[in-house]
Amino acid sequence: MPDPLGDFDPTTTYDEAVLEYESASGDFWRHLSDHTVELLALQRGERVLDLPCGTGHVALGAAERVGPDGRVVALDVSERMTQLVSHKAAQLQLTNVDVGVADMTRLGRPDPPFDAVACVLGIFFAPDMPAALRSLAAQARPGGRIAVAVFGEEFFEPMRTTFVDAVRAVAPDLQVVEPWARVRTEQQLRELFDAADLTADVETCVDEVPLTSADDWWRIVMGSGLRATVGHLDPATAAGVRDRCAEEVERHGLTALRVTSRYGVAAAA
Ligand SMILES: C[S@@+](CC[C@H](N)C(=O)[O-])C[C@H]1O[C@@H](n2cnc3c(N)ncnc32)[C@H](O)[C@@H]1O
Repeated sequence: MPDPLGDFDPTTTYDEAVLEYESASGDFWRHLSDHTVELLALQRGERVLDLPCGTGHVALGAAERVGPDGRVVALDVSERMTQLVSHKAAQLQLTNVDVGVADMTRLGRPDPPFDAVACVLGIFFAPDMPAALRSLAAQARPGGRIAVAVFGEEFFEPMRTTFVDAVRAVAPDLQVVEPWARVRTEQQLRELFDAADLTADVETCVDEVPLTSADDWWRIVMGSGLRATVGHLDPATAAGVRDRCAEEVERHGLTALRVTSRYGVAAAA
């Protein structure tokens, strides 16, 4: 059985992706962050940890919610992601956001602990997911909330399947590494919380995101972890995969893609 993380290097992948990530996430998967902020039911004055923060969708939304008396700490292993969050926070004149570089698998004890912790589209990068979730939950005060959001069974379908088939056709020996597939079913998410000794409420949403052109699909590829697969192809082969995907968009007249998202929310012990 292949290693589900393979040679996927999150730091390099997301450092290189930062601008494409900002563009694609804003249009196609920001709704997971927005819904997570809703689920955390943040109150004014609360302290919130967003890890991994990426380009800061949770952090900046949470900062508005908790107000000037609250505090948000936004951390990510990719320095370029954190630089963009700092820039966006300054542009929005949010003075209650602290941004830093950190590895979610190597956390110390916070002082003081947080009222709420968000981990959106990140837990699957930890080799030991239950250990990472336990240590994220330990960042929260007793009774504080911890929310984990993941993609569900459908990751921008039907184009994800088209992409994987197109890659396999030209590079049959290349492992398409999809870390997000490690935890996507309701059972897997429940088992993850159970293994971290947390009792979660789990919610599933199925959404359609609009696709305005074939280029939109390639924005998703290059803004997401799929870009790591493209990085293994030579430019001409990658262009062939892109063309094959564009043909599918045109052939089916696709104007939307399906995305399943799943949320687990628990109270810290
Ligand atoms: C798919 S993005 C999600 C970012 C953000 N939460 C969002 O939903 O837009 C995944 C992020 O996880 C970060 N990451 C991966 N492994 C990490 C680790 N061990 N510690 C901290 N951040 C990590 C990457 O750098 C990247 O910014």
